[in-house]
Amino acid sequence: MSKDILLWDETLFKNAEVLEIDHIPEHFAYRDNQLQAIKYSLKPVINGMNPINCLISGPPGTGKTTAVMKIYNEIQEYVDDVIFLKVNCQIDSTRFAVISRIYKQVTGVTPPTSGVSFRSLFDKTMDSLVENDSRLVLTLDDINYLFYENHADEVMYSLLRAHEHYPGVKIGVIAVVSDTGAFYQFDTKVTSVFLPEEIEFPRYEYSELQGIIDDRIKNAFYPDVIPAEVRDHIVQYVDDLGDLRIGIDLLKRAGLNAEKRASRFVTRDDVDNAYESSKLLHICRSIRSLNSNEKNLLRLIVDNNNIYAGNLYKSFHEATEHGYTYFYKLINRLYAARHIDVEFSGQGKRGRSRLIKLKTSPSDILKCL
Ligand SMILES: Nc1ncnc2c1ncn2[C@@H]1O[C@H](COP(=O)(O)OP(=O)(O)O)[C@@H](O)[C@H]1O
Ligand SMILES: [Mg+2]
Repeated sequence: MSKDILLWDETLFKNAEVLEIDHIPEHFAYRDNQLQAIKYSLKPVINGMNPINCLISGPPGTGKTTAVMKIYNEIQEYVDDVIFLKVNCQIDSTRFAVISRIYKQVTGVTPPTSGVSFRSLFDKTMDSLVENDSRLVLTLDDINYLFYENHADEVMYSLLRAHEHYPGVKIGVIAVVSDTGAFYQFDTKVTSVFLPEEIEFPRYEYSELQGIIDDRIKNAFYPDVIPAEVRDHIVQYVDDLGDLRIGIDLLKRAGLNAEKRASRFVTRDDVDNAYESSKLLHICRSIRSLNSNEKNLLRLIVDNNNIYAGNLYKSFHEATEHGYTYFYKLINRLYAARHIDVEFSGQGKRGRSRLIKLKTSPSDILKCL
């Protein structure tokens, strides 16, 4: 048997399952404070009380969903009259889709897709909760997607005030906001009844990413399949792009690329090729989460790459009539989502003109827009 060539029936993966998108890692480092905060907020349900509502925020790929699911799994064992539900608002992005999902979980019946209103499904869901004496712990994951249709406030408001209209109803809400947070504000009808425990998930430091990726490598691959230098190459991608999901996806794809070459170990080239072939997927996923004004501004930047902020604002204002403050917010948002770089050019009136540049190729962005 050759030492360097992988035989057709051999694999580099010790346990490929840990690289799947919905895998919940056993070892979840650097998030102890956040896990504790979620756990203590939910703990009252064990004693029959209402949980404390939570507002979780942070950029994509910082462990928000995983943290909630870990605590769900942990607490679920102690109670049997509590329904733990997570609704993914990126998939269920309207109030009707959200309530349909809750209704189905609470009643066990699939609701009709049309001919019923949000209100009537909401009524029936609450009645069922009261009748069965069950409580609901609901996570609205990536609730920012409900802001695009302006449905977030109504959903939150209905849930938070349900106990007033349906005596005996007990609901705890965990709202998970991806990204900037400040940009999405609930209206005062919501904030007057939503006094949550606020839990932040900051971006991981380089060394933390290294630790997480390293741990995943040890679980997924046989020893020595991924040399430290190749691991760091992947960590660099994650650090640049800001989303751990991309790193875990790269591990899987790079491993498969190496297998295809019948190699016993993964190289930098395997990683680069994996990134090239999945790049569009990641860019599109990130662009999908922008709202329509953010997309319009991004399109303007695609049409005028390397443009001064002042000139860009002029075009934006002509096209949308929005003012400078709003424009500036959108620029920050595109910067936070890593679509653009902002450079001080040393030119312009005060030598401080900002130059707006795309981080990825205009043609890739156009394919996703
Ligand atoms: N501290 C961590 N340790 C191990 N894996 C992590 C950690 N944080 C995030 N991950 C992994 O990164 C990916 C993205 O995490 P996720 O919880 O989906 O992030 P978010 O909900 O914030 O977008 C998942 O595959 C998750 O397993
Ligand atoms: Mg998530």
